[in-house]
Amino acid sequence: MGLTTTEEPDLRDAEGDLTSFAQHTQFTTITDKENHTMSEQIFIFDTTLRDAEQTPGAALNLEEKLEIAKHLAKLNVDIIEAGFPISSPGDFDAVKRIADEVTGPEICALSRIIEKDITAAWGAIKDAPKPRIHTFVGTSDIHIVGITRSDREAILKRAVDAVAYAKSLCAGHPGAKVEFSPMDATRTEPSYLYEVVEATINAGATIINIPDTVGYAIPAEFGQLIADIFANVPNIDQAVISVHCHNDLGLAVANSIAAIKSGARQVECTVNGLGERAGNTALEEIVMAIRTRQDHFTDVHTAINTVEICPISRRVSRTMGIPIQPNKAIVGANAFAHSSGIHQDGVIKQRDTFEIMAPEEVGLKESQIILSPRSGRNALRHRLHALGYDVTPEQLNQIYERFIEVADKKKEIHDADLEAIMADEVRSIPEVFQLEYIQVVSGTKISPTTTVGVRTENGVVEEASTGDGPVDAAYKAIDRVAKIPLVLTDYSIRSVTEGKDAIGEVTIKVQDNGHTMIGHGASTDIIEASAKAYIDAINKVVHLRYEA
Ligand code: KIV
Ligand code: ZN
Repeated sequence: MGLTTTEEPDLRDAEGDLTSFAQHTQFTTITDKENHTMSEQIFIFDTTLRDAEQTPGAALNLEEKLEIAKHLAKLNVDIIEAGFPISSPGDFDAVKRIADEVTGPEICALSRIIEKDITAAWGAIKDAPKPRIHTFVGTSDIHIVGITRSDREAILKRAVDAVAYAKSLCAGHPGAKVEFSPMDATRTEPSYLYEVVEATINAGATIINIPDTVGYAIPAEFGQLIADIFANVPNIDQAVISVHCHNDLGLAVANSIAAIKSGARQVECTVNGLGERAGNTALEEIVMAIRTRQDHFTDVHTAINTVEICPISRRVSRTMGIPIQPNKAIVGANAFAHSSGIHQDGVIKQRDTFEIMAPEEVGLKESQIILSPRSGRNALRHRLHALGYDVTPEQLNQIYERFIEVADKKKEIHDADLEAIMADEVRSIPEVFQLEYIQVVSGTKISPTTTVGVRTENGVVEEASTGDGPVDAAYKAIDRVAKIPLVLTDYSIRSVTEGKDAIGEVTIKVQDNGHTMIGHGASTDIIEASAKAYIDAINKVVHLRYEA
């Protein structure tokens, strides 16, 4: 095998010296994230159990909702919107169980501005330490005319009456709150929107949620709308402004960020961004944007326990049966996986070269280096080290050649592939014979013929033979080259990895003058693996006879 030197420039690695991966587990750019003095809290209102549960095919049973709610409490969300109690007895029961059993966050129930809805919502949550009624009505003309078949004046009055009724139910409960949402706020005529917001605050709402119900807004516009609400609603200081953005244009997170910049202090969001149609603001994205870009959010923070982000993401995905796209920000399988050689090299030397946050922050153990034909020696050495192999530069070069050969045939190289390559390549005895090439002609009506090219001290020698099968033919052809006939006593093959392109590892036992020798060979081609195992055994015999 022709060896290259480590000094050779490697196109799959970046430039520079290798330093320990462990030395770079902390980011220098992120400082003192938990020190929130002078910083206001952004309240995280999770609506996975209400808006995301409306995703087609995502319906959950009561136990599943309860488990997710408990996990949301561990994530430390501020408010859990547990459901829409009037919608079904099952939803009522689920909201009630969550209100009774989940401690920590406020438990919120949704209702239309209809008395029986509000009564049901309160009935489900009233025993929670911190219950919240969330009542809503469409305030855009499209909704007022198209859904409620009403007019602005009537809707304003009904919204005020609903908030007042909800407030009256909360009266005896010190922890209870009322939230009001003018649905489709972004398509609502602004002066009417201000009027509705002012009137519902006067009626007792202490949280005003501004929904971009159809995901129509763009960030500058949405940020301006929130600023205009602050400027045009006289009693706005008596309420927290919340935002609830849908993702129809892929702008839900960007719109929520623009709203925070304009003074919004509650963000409604869902795990994995699930929700009606294209979904809602993704909880993990908004939280990690605020955390990672503290330089842009100097005055705000969230209380989210970010190490629960990936665990809850997987739980929601599994329970709702909705897979996470691999390239999904923060929680996708590829979010912390590096496959190009230059990126792998950079991340191994200093993680923040290609990662803006540490995987540990979101509950992952470590970044992933995906070994592929694009990987360089540095990535290979890093993975081998993790598997317990410390190789010399010469061995690395030799293994790397083999690694690239296998990686070209397979898309990804797994640890088991590496183990097989190591067993096959790292030999403690000299390789007097090496398989250079092998060719098989076989079929149902012809005797199989195998041709081998074997490197010897006199150069490559080619021989061919027929046999009882292609492996037998290969062994006979190798015997003709090596002239050290052996007695084969055992032959076994196992698949080391999975799939059609799996590596097969052949182990054989041969007898030589009373000694048993074991030979190993691995390849994605089992005839080649068999020939390598035989040559390995021959090399051991040569070593025992002449060099030991
Ligand atoms: O998208 C929306 O407007 C809603 C409301 C109920 C807040 O989900
Ligand atoms: Zn919604």
